[in-house]
Amino acid sequence: MRSSSVGIDEISVAAPRAYLDLVDLATARNIPSEKFTKGLGAVRMAIADRHEDPVALATDAAHSLVFDRERIGFCAVGTETGIDHSKPVASYVHGLLGLPSRARVYDAKHACFGGTAALMAACEWIASGAARGRSALVICSDIARYELGSPGEPTQGAGAVAMIVSEAPSLVEIEVGRSGMFTRDVHDFWRPLHRKDALVDGHFSVNCYLDALAGAFGEWRRENDSSGAPLARCAYHVPYVKMAKKADKHRAGLEGLDDAAAEARFAREVGSSLTFAAEIGNIYTGSLYMALASMLHQEDLRGQRIGMFSYGSGCMAEFFGARVVGSPRGLDACIRNRQRLTFGEYESIRRNEQEGPVTEVETERTAFLGIDAQERRVYRAPGARAISIAA
Ligand code: HMG
Repeated sequence: MRSSSVGIDEISVAAPRAYLDLVDLATARNIPSEKFTKGLGAVRMAIADRHEDPVALATDAAHSLVFDRERIGFCAVGTETGIDHSKPVASYVHGLLGLPSRARVYDAKHACFGGTAALMAACEWIASGAARGRSALVICSDIARYELGSPGEPTQGAGAVAMIVSEAPSLVEIEVGRSGMFTRDVHDFWRPLHRKDALVDGHFSVNCYLDALAGAFGEWRRENDSSGAPLARCAYHVPYVKMAKKADKHRAGLEGLDDAAAEARFAREVGSSLTFAAEIGNIYTGSLYMALASMLHQEDLRGQRIGMFSYGSGCMAEFFGARVVGSPRGLDACIRNRQRLTFGEYESIRRNEQEGPVTEVETERTAFLGIDAQERRVYRAPGARAISIAA
């Protein structure tokens, strides 16, 4: 049976335990710290250690959700931090969480848009009636990395967002089938197969993002102008905080607002979505959904209609509407009790991250332990003893 109310029933954000303060990075790179803190709006960025790979982050994000595992019939991971050319992150997560075997399980990739591709597929699966009452687990998990000393370095980060997607959701209803979309083949950001660090044409990527916003928002407006309430808030893909400000200003221009009105609207309608991003940095596929979590954590928006803008380099963009149903708390665990790295510790993590043989690690969280003799990845499940993927 088709369902008209579909969306996010639960959401959770996971991030690495350690972070680098952007003032420490600026000092070490001999750059005025205001360029990072004011110019980019970044305060701290999460740094993943060798045990915190995309599978471990994704599993941790999902592990803190409270849901009925037996009802999951779909598990999709949006990621651009590939760990294998063939085996998806979603399979590892499915195994580590012990989800039912009667499920569709895969990864979705299109740079930062991969998470939205997975979310929309899950929503449409449920809305079509094919889910037959079951729910979906959608996770976005990434490690954003650029070369040491490059302009992209202050816009790194790492983390995952997990969402349960269901009928009659208790957090956010998505307006399925009413999105505005835009795509174009551009080389703004890419990561060749042999590289861990992304390559980016930074200023061009900013223009691609804004062009894609104009295209997707324009289509969304044409389709939705006469229907639905005005948007009370808007969450954007946040590669760095200032980008969301540029985006909202660009959208305000398209709507005919002057600079003063745009500035006031940004503070009122976007500000709360940026707190987690300022602390964690870019998490690629999960950035838009971390912005949503940041907003819902800080404001009770029940009954309000919000806008959501997803951008993935390459490029693909989608603007869609949603209605907030619930007011969750406690989503900020990802930024509490973290360890501040010195610049030296950060550089040493970055320089010594070759994946090696299996080694144990003391943690209650999911951990990537290493590679076994057959080059299979070995993980410790959350709160469990080490397991072999061959087990
Ligand atoms: P840059 O060229 O070193 O920085 O790198 P800049 O010179 O453009 O300066 C940045 C801002 O700081 C400017 O403000 C300066 O004025 C200001 P703006 O003009 O933009 O408003 N500034 C200062 N402010 C205060 N005090 C100072 C000072 N000095 C300068 N002393 C760049 C910036 C974003 C290009 C770089 O960090 C980069 O390449 N980042 C990675 C790419 C990126 O994040 N692109 C965003 C759009 S693409 C996207 O979102 C997709 C993505 O997530 C990937 C995916 O889809 O998978 C990246």
